Amino acid sequence: MRTKLVAGNWKMNGSLASNAHLLAALSNTVFATLNAQLAVCVPYPYLSQAAAVLAGTPVLLGAQDVSEHAKGAFTGEVSAAMLADFGCRYVLVGHSERRSFYGDTNESVALKFAAAQVAGLTPILCVGETLAEREAGVTMQVVSSQLDAVLAKSGVAALSTAVVAYEPVWAIGTGRTASPGQAQEVHAQIRARIEQADPTVAANLQILYGGSMKPDNAAELLRQKDIDGGLIGGASLVAEDFLAIAKAA
Ligand code: 13P
Repeated sequence: MRTKLVAGNWKMNGSLASNAHLLAALSNTVFATLNAQLAVCVPYPYLSQAAAVLAGTPVLLGAQDVSEHAKGAFTGEVSAAMLADFGCRYVLVGHSERRSFYGDTNESVALKFAAAQVAGLTPILCVGETLAEREAGVTMQVVSSQLDAVLAKSGVAALSTAVVAYEPVWAIGTGRTASPGQAQEVHAQIRARIEQADPTVAANLQILYGGSMKPDNAAELLRQKDIDGGLIGGASLVAEDFLAIAKAA
């Protein structure tokens, strides 16, 4: 039985003051009422603030990107070991905004995934198609090549300490969510693809859905057989909404 994971991706939002409010609300939740593990992926400068407020709570900490390199002359980059130093458990790799605005490729994402695991972090590998790709009927080809780059570099066993997030690009920040059926279809295909390589890894793999998940559509998405949680953008910035999604899990 896979446990549900509801992870917030704050993206480039927040301030010391607004985070204090949001983190306090999360840390004051009655966790016993939740079925889901909670995590928040915060901007780098706020890792220590989040780690301090969330210490002693079950909410896990994550970052939104990581360098593929271990250390050295890479100005502006942040290594996986640095994230581990600040108590991160998770790191997103290959978010579509990194792929489309910052040049992340399937190959560089595979290197980031591997670097995260070397430092003991659990990568959350983001995959998903654009609207044009969906309309062209190549959703699964796109998602498969995103997965295959990681499988080629790290092997299928690496997915036993990783999470996959299916985030259709056309549903991110648009208010247009994939229907539960559309999401379930791709999740099942992702799991089937991993199953060909290793049925046990596939059976245990958490596959999150992301893209305009909100309190009012979360329950139905999270009820789908192969949807093991959510990666939440906008709604993770409002404690009430984020917790309502977690309660729906
Ligand atoms: P929204 O929930 O704002 O659509 O963002 C989803 C996302 O990109 C999470 O990583």
